[in-house]
Amino acid sequence: HHHVDGATPEKVDEVIASGDFAPRIPDCEGFETYRGTGGYDTLLRLREGCDWEQVQETVLASGLRGLGGAGFPSGRKWGFVRANPGPRYLAVNGDEGEPGTFKDRHYLERTPHLMLEGMLIAAWAVEAETCFIYLRDEYPAVRAILKREIAALEDAGIVDPGYIDLRRGAGAYICGEESAMIESIEGKRGIPRHRPPYVAQEGIFGRPTLVHNIETLHWVARVCREGPEILSSVERNGRKGLRSYSVSGRVARPAVYLLPAGSTIRDVIDAAGGMAEGHVLKAYQPGGPSSGLLPAALDDVPLDFDTLQPHGSFIGSAAVVVLSDQDSAKAAALNMLKFFETESCGQCTPCRAGCEKAVKLMQAESWDRELLEDLCTVMGDASICGLGQAVPNPIRLVMKHFKDEV
Ligand code: NAI
Ligand code: SF4
Repeated sequence: HHHVDGATPEKVDEVIASGDFAPRIPDCEGFETYRGTGGYDTLLRLREGCDWEQVQETVLASGLRGLGGAGFPSGRKWGFVRANPGPRYLAVNGDEGEPGTFKDRHYLERTPHLMLEGMLIAAWAVEAETCFIYLRDEYPAVRAILKREIAALEDAGIVDPGYIDLRRGAGAYICGEESAMIESIEGKRGIPRHRPPYVAQEGIFGRPTLVHNIETLHWVARVCREGPEILSSVERNGRKGLRSYSVSGRVARPAVYLLPAGSTIRDVIDAAGGMAEGHVLKAYQPGGPSSGLLPAALDDVPLDFDTLQPHGSFIGSAAVVVLSDQDSAKAAALNMLKFFETESCGQCTPCRAGCEKAVKLMQAESWDRELLEDLCTVMGDASICGLGQAVPNPIRLVMKHFKDEV
């Protein structure tokens, strides 16, 4: 982040565009191309007078679940939001901050209009007054793309000027938590709210708000256009659907790989060209630091929603980081905890003080397992939001699977 005195969003954009900080804007599918190949036909047809519940049925039939990481059935959210009287809002969570996750960026840099059409279909379904897009500020190229493509949508008369309100994050991981994001959109400090009420009941400015992740909306557009089978017909290891795995670490070709949802870590590594030369799989983070670390021995588990719970983990946003025999599980866990310590919003004591204590305990030569377990119980039980609640995962998994190191 480069600080600019008296910064307004316009001023910052100007400075960024002016040279040294100018982002490289990747070639992506622009409005003309997308529209020219049938893009927005679905949206315009729906707007002409379709039953929103039929569209909801299609989304439910596809099995689409929230791809920010929680996996909540996407179609069901529409019903929750509709059940509350308007005005209603839609917020797109583009604050992709989970370490190792870069799939939303991948899609926005290639096919931004799939997300935009999916957003407008969802907005139509819940009769949203305004669509807010909350984009992390670390994606300046994506912001430039979205600004340009939203302007094209306005020029083409597909949305009224101002209907899509592009907002910028400011580098806080916690602002990806949906209620903290909403506080931030309202102009306040981003800290999570207690729930209930859910944001579907009381979201932006207390109004019912539909929150979807970028990739979820990408799939809403595809499912509405191509049919629910594009997801529901894919099967592997008894699991249905597709997952966009962001793969990094000790693999030959780190990138985003779209694979069947029942893929195992072996399938994911194969897709990424195998292990990097000279490296042997030792452990992997299946879905961000909140999901902890799993050992190579667990290489036959489908990396999908629900399948990792029995192992004390979860797939989350499918941010797969591969570690090898040359990496330390202890160091990786400490790194995760330092991240949580930095990013804790500080609102509640179990998380604010707990992260700090955990880091201290984990810096010791050998871990005080009893004390750490005690801390994990308190943090898991008493933290307000997912950040503090998930902190026990890396600690417990490393104590369980990498005893010798700690
Ligand atoms: P959650 O399961 O509590 O909620 C998921 C969604 O369903 C929310 O929008 C919530 O409002 C809605 N919901 C759940 N129950 C509801 C009900 N009864 N009525 C109405 N709406 C309901 O999970 P949460 O805390 O929102 O997300 C946690 C996940 O976020 C983790 O799995 C983690 O992997 C992921 N994450 C992703 C990041 C990224 O960069 N993509 C960053 C950090 C975390
Ligand atoms: Fe903030 Fe941590 Fe409490 Fe979440 S758990 S509200 S991040 S202090």
